[in-house]
Amino acid sequence: MELYIDTANVDEIREIAQWGVLSGVTTNPTLVAREGRDFLEVIKEICEIVDGPVSAEVLSEDMEGMVKEGREKKNWHENVIIKLPCTAEGIGACAVLEGEGIPCNVTLVFSAGQGFLAASAGATFVSPFVGRLDDAGSNGMQVVEDLAEMFEIHGFRTRIIAASIRTPNHLTEAALAGAHIATVPYSVIKKSILHPLTDKGLESFKKDWEAAQN
Ligand code: G3P
Repeated sequence: MELYIDTANVDEIREIAQWGVLSGVTTNPTLVAREGRDFLEVIKEICEIVDGPVSAEVLSEDMEGMVKEGREKKNWHENVIIKLPCTAEGIGACAVLEGEGIPCNVTLVFSAGQGFLAASAGATFVSPFVGRLDDAGSNGMQVVEDLAEMFEIHGFRTRIIAASIRTPNHLTEAALAGAHIATVPYSVIKKSILHPLTDKGLESFKKDWEAAQN
């Protein structure tokens, strides 16, 4: 499973990219708006930091507008992936854009049936929202597992991005459920590296080493 970071904050991306663990970046309108910066400028800067797929979402709600926006945003940078909502309009736009060789990430997926339709439209990526399903009392990871099984059985090339990841446990569960990618917020990546026994072990190694030097 590859790791993407789910943020539009370039400082966060730069810090985690230095660990050598990042394969891509996802953004959404909420994350870009939070930065208070120009959309194009942010996406271009992100593409300079991470050499991998960078999802940029469309803001149009109709199919024609989404297709137009998708074509425009693809010109921003070769690594841009067009993020489209899992609506009838979004699925239609996905089929058109993928038909033109423009890779799409169908987002806001909350059921395996929605994921199937995105894959049938030729989506390069599909993003089930694990945390938001858990919030609503469902088992979000089950959708990831079902999609992984379905895509395997039927040979779909669509890659599953486990999204709306809220905890380090979600990250490992996504890998075990068969997600190809997990897109993870900065705070969860930071938490995932921590373990009190690592700190404790390091401290005792240091103490023992120093004691032996005297
Ligand atoms: O990748 C989708 C993600 O940004 C949504 O996360 O925590 O707002 O459900 P969240």
